Amino acid sequence: MHKKCFCCFLSEEEQSKARNKGEKNKNKDYPWEIYTSKELLRATNNFHQDHKIGEGGFGSVYWGRTSKGVEIAVKRLKTMTAKAEMEFAVEVEVLGRVRHKNLLGLRGFYAGGDERLIVYDFMPNQSLLTHLHGHLSSNCLLDWPKRINIAIGAAEGLAYLHHEANPHIIHRDIKASNVLLDLEFQAKVADFGFAKLIPEGVSHLTTRVKGTLGYLAPEYAMWGKVSESCDVYSFGILLLEIVSAKKPIEKLPGGVKRDIVQWVTPYFQKGAFNHIADSKLKGKFDLDQLKSVVMIALRCTDGSPEKRPSMAEVVDWLKGAAGKRRREVTPSLSLGNGDDEVDDDDYGEITPYQSKLKMASTDSDRHKRR
Ligand SMILES: Nc1ncnc2c1ncn2[C@@H]1O[C@H](COP(=O)(O)OP(=O)(O)OP(=O)(O)O)[C@@H](O)[C@H]1O
Ligand SMILES: [Mg+2]
Repeated sequence: MHKKCFCCFLSEEEQSKARNKGEKNKNKDYPWEIYTSKELLRATNNFHQDHKIGEGGFGSVYWGRTSKGVEIAVKRLKTMTAKAEMEFAVEVEVLGRVRHKNLLGLRGFYAGGDERLIVYDFMPNQSLLTHLHGHLSSNCLLDWPKRINIAIGAAEGLAYLHHEANPHIIHRDIKASNVLLDLEFQAKVADFGFAKLIPEGVSHLTTRVKGTLGYLAPEYAMWGKVSESCDVYSFGILLLEIVSAKKPIEKLPGGVKRDIVQWVTPYFQKGAFNHIADSKLKGKFDLDQLKSVVMIALRCTDGSPEKRPSMAEVVDWLKGAAGKRRREVTPSLSLGNGDDEVDDDDYGEITPYQSKLKMASTDSDRHKRR
């Protein structure tokens, strides 16, 4: 059981005293800083609209520069209840202790009055989402080696959370917007553990489901069953997204929804890999690596959680595929060797799995309206 975070329960005055005494950063267990609101208001120009770099379920994110010239990203949380505030305190403590090259660094926080601010390292290359589907996608800054490297990095960050962090952390919200990219395009997994801020139950599912339905493992979407393998499933979806730049769920003409696994499976079985690779790569990809990555992704997205690999295995396999380590991954599906044509229109009907996802979505929408 974790000790309570001492800082979160300090008054603003006490926080400031602690700062003046130079107590911050002295304790190895608490490597983050306590910021003053003044400092963060100055850094973000009073949370000026021009500084806003994103908006998510928990609040808005602003770019800032500290008086020492360090670039930061400040997440300004929406107003919280007393219970959520306690959870915020615990989360900040847990996240503050977690350090890994592929996890977004928490620099510190501010808690005072109704304001809850979390300060992170600023990631100049924004999120994977921006590159795959957003305003940077047309520039195609993500060449094949960068994509493979990002996949390995994100897998390593997640493997650390699952296997090494103490306590172990299940992310619960692995998706393209939560993989940020530093100056060298190294992946930094963000928002780990934040799902725990949401109370267990339907409302939790509701909030997280919104907009990220395509990443949810079926057992989580349908029964709220959470385990590390839910993250593995989401990571499999992310892998397919990285290589294809397809969205996790796509709306077909007529309103039918198709998920990325259903889209990729027939191409994979027929060996039609040129159809899978992002066309913006203009054929500049390593075919063997693509095959392996898709194979790994399909293992990760197995319908049965117990059949999915661990993130440690995924890291090994990806490194093997990239030639960094030799490990074989066995396909769970038969693989064709031709480049047969597969028509996108092969999918007219909604499958039982899709309809279950649809049910989860409808359910969550219903709760959202409450
Ligand atoms: N440290 C950071 N550096 C640079 N940009 C960031 C940073 N943190 C977040 N962002 C940007 O802000 C956006 C919003 O982030 P946020 O985590 O609030 O929402 P989200 O990931 O889109 O959704 P959710 O709240 O469901 O996780 C991100 O997509 C990203 O583009
Ligand atoms: Mg996020």
